[in-house]
This record gives sequence, C-alpha cells and structure tokens, in this order.
Amino acid sequence: MSSNAPATATIRIDDTGRESAVPLLPGTIGPAVADIRKLYGELGIFTYDPGYGGTAACESKITYIDGDAGVLLHRGYPIEQLAEHSTFLEVAYLLLNGELPSAGQMQEFDRGIRLHTMVHEQLRQFYNGFRRDAHPMAVICGVVGALSAFYHDSLDVNNPEHRRISAFRLIAKLPTIASWAFKYSLGQPFMYPRNDLSYAENFLYMMNAVPSEPYQINPVLARAMDRILILHADHEQNASTSTVRLAGSTGANPFACIAAGIASLWGPAHGGANEAVLKMLAEIGTPDAIPGFIARVKDKNSNVRLMGFGHRVYKNYDPRAKIMQRTCHEVLTELGITGDPLLDLAMELERIALHDEYFVGKKLYPNVDFYSGIILKAMGIPTSMFTVLFAVARTVGWVSQWKEMMEDPSQRIGRPRQLYTGHARRDYPMRAAAE
Ligand code: ACO
Repeated sequence: MSSNAPATATIRIDDTGRESAVPLLPGTIGPAVADIRKLYGELGIFTYDPGYGGTAACESKITYIDGDAGVLLHRGYPIEQLAEHSTFLEVAYLLLNGELPSAGQMQEFDRGIRLHTMVHEQLRQFYNGFRRDAHPMAVICGVVGALSAFYHDSLDVNNPEHRRISAFRLIAKLPTIASWAFKYSLGQPFMYPRNDLSYAENFLYMMNAVPSEPYQINPVLARAMDRILILHADHEQNASTSTVRLAGSTGANPFACIAAGIASLWGPAHGGANEAVLKMLAEIGTPDAIPGFIARVKDKNSNVRLMGFGHRVYKNYDPRAKIMQRTCHEVLTELGITGDPLLDLAMELERIALHDEYFVGKKLYPNVDFYSGIILKAMGIPTSMFTVLFAVARTVGWVSQWKEMMEDPSQRIGRPRQLYTGHARRDYPMRAAAE
C-alpha cells in the first residue's frame, strides 16, 4: 500500500472469510472514524452501538471535546478563554458563522437579535391554556413548537435567508418565551423585552422586573448570567443536539426541531441534572449525612446517583464545572452570602467524592451542572427554571448544528437500524369462532 493511501481497517466475518476494507477518516484533532457506510452492502451486517458511545453520527466543525484531557473548544477556541473574554452573543456568532466577528459584524448581529426579541402578540394567549403550576419546561416546549404556527415566512428549510431569519428569531425570542413561562407561574404580568439592554441583562430584567417598580441591573449578576449562557451554549453531539439533528434531517422546520431538542434536554440524565442536584442537596441536608448518601450511591441496588457527577464524554474534570465553581463564589460574594449551607454541602460532597475509590475508579468528576444550580438559586431563580435557562443557552448550539447539517450536501434522513431479537415470522392462530 502506498504511504499516501488512506488508512483502512478490515472487518472480516471469520466463518465465511468475507471481508470489507473500512476507510478511516481523520479529523483535525481527535480519533479517526471508521466509515462503515458500505459495510451492510458488502457484508450484510450492521454495527451495534446502543447509546452511540463509539459512533460518530455526523461531520462537524463546531465543537471539539477531548473527554480524557477535559478540553472543550468552540471553533478551536478554548471554553476558558471564551468564558473569560467573550460575551454570549459573540459566542453565538462564532458558533453560527465559524469565525469571531469584526466590530461591525458584531454590531450588525447584535442589532439583528435585538430586532427579534418580541413575540407575536397572539402567542401570549398560549400561556393561558396552561395550568399555573405547569413545569416551565412543559410550557416552553409547547410555545417554541407553536412558533412554526406564527412565522410562516421563514419555514422553508432549503432557503438560506429563511434559515438565517429563523436562527435570529429562535435565539432572540427564547429569553422572552422562557421568562414569560416564569412570570405565568408567579401570576405576574409579562415583561416585554428591553432592547437597550444586553442579552443577559434583558433576560434578568424580563424574569425579575415588575411594571410597578424600577429594576436595577446588577452588573456582577448580569456578567454571571452571560457566563452561564456561554458555558451551556454548545456541547457537540449530546442527546438534545442529536435529537435536533435527527428531527431536522427529515426537513422539519427549525422551530419544531428546537422544540424536540427542549424535550430531550428535559431529562435528569441531561439538562434536568441541575435541578436534580439541588433536590439531592436538599435531601442530604447536612454534611454529616454525606457518608450515608455516598454509601447509597455506591449500592448497585439503590438506583441512586450522585447528580452533577459523571459524563458520557468527560473522564476528567468538566472544564465548564471549574469556571462554574469560580463564578459561583463571585456571585455569592456579590450577594453577601457567606457560608451558604448548600455551597458548603456541595463542596464537601465534591471533596469526598473526588477522593473516593468508587468515583476515582470510574472517572466520575463534577460536570457543569454541579455548581450551576447553586448560582442560579442564589440569583433568586427557582429550581424549576434551571433547565429552562439551559435551553435558552443551548438554543444557540442547536441552531448552529441544525444550520451546519442543512448546509451539508451529504446530509440524509437519520435512520438507525437495529438488532432484532423478537419473534421470527409466525402465523396468526386460528381460534374456534365461539367457545
Ligand atoms: N453517580 C454514581 N455512579 C455513576 C454516576 C453517578 N452520577 N454516573 C455514572 N455512574 C456509574 C454507573 O453506575 C456505572 O457503573 P458500573 O460500570 O459499575 O455499572 C458507570 O459509572 C458508568 O455509568 P454509565 O451510566 O454507563 O455512564 P453514561 O456515560 O451512560 O452516563 C451520565 C453518563 C448519564 C451523565 C451519568 O454519569 C449520570 O447519570 N450522571 C448524573 C446525572 C448528571 O449529572 N447528568 C448531567 C450530564 S452533563 C449535561 O447533560 C449537561
């Protein structure tokens, strides 16, 4: 074989001797992938990978994760640098367009987002159909899906201008939709967006302000919110992003696809973990109860997990968790919260878990959700809104990944196969007519 020939792996079926040469496609960084697209045609076999732990479902230029080293790059830029020096909207531009914007491009992008922050007035009526005690994730899932019933002028997924406008609409309107879900649960009037404020400031304003009182933006909290949004903006082909891509691969409109992503994010194994962490801390209660709780986590029959720990890809400290921990301290200091019992409990839990053989051996480290709940709680945001905030941030990633997929000429409808283990063909039993 010439040294320039692409690397291949060979799959051979031992008892027949039939084999297939599988090309190994290199990435810029990270492992190569075995291209098995012709495998079924050549050997009549599928690959089997429940949970997709070893399967690359697409090619992407957006986000890179090295789970062993604890590295997260967006378009090549480390998350630590983006969280420190960038803003959420600049990261949004980067994820969508591939490069950081010039000053002029940023101004235009920012203005474009601000122009779309309001929602169709009739959409307000939707909220009244929900019970006041509805989970806000249920509300935003419904309302975001309903956007496709309002914005008919940007639903042609094959039209680049429609895709661009839909992306702006989704990123701009999510904070409005999310904060109205919160206001509805409180029975307070909806606050209309203020386009003189930054994205994070406006989100805080719409969630916390009331028409009868002046609302003062706290710049430390606004910066913390912006950073929380950056840290959740995208994370490669996770469950909700893969859901968005799969829905989008059928040609479904972007509002429907993002609603599907929100549904997928809701589960406690994914975006619902930040809510689950606070419930867990409340259940533990005091540091002296930690050893008993850890023993339950380690008991295979208990089904109890240390929420906010572990990750399918990170087998090291999630880099976002480190930034989140720092931000958590900044927020608590700004708010004058010293010796917060929840934070103390979380830090003690983390300290014990990081030294416990069970967690060390399984490479279970804190993930982004371990600290985010504590910050959000300190900022006065109720637990039920935590995953909603995640959805607001991740909309940028979902839209960027959806756009990339729609622009990929090799994209086809997503259609996994299966290992069938049910009955083979059998005949319907002919029973006697009356017994
Ligand atoms: N607590 C205790 N044990 C755990 C935990 C945990 N949080 N996470 C994994 N394990 C154990 C499993 O019991 C399993 O042990 P075993 O090999 O003895 O059977 C082993 O570690 C591997 O676990 P899997 O479930 O196979 O790992 P997977 O990659 O499928 O799961 C997940 C990843 C879902 C994130 C898991 O670690 C988890 O449930 N964590 C808690 C929920 C959470 O924090 N989710 C947020 C993820 S980040 C995000 O979405 C923003």
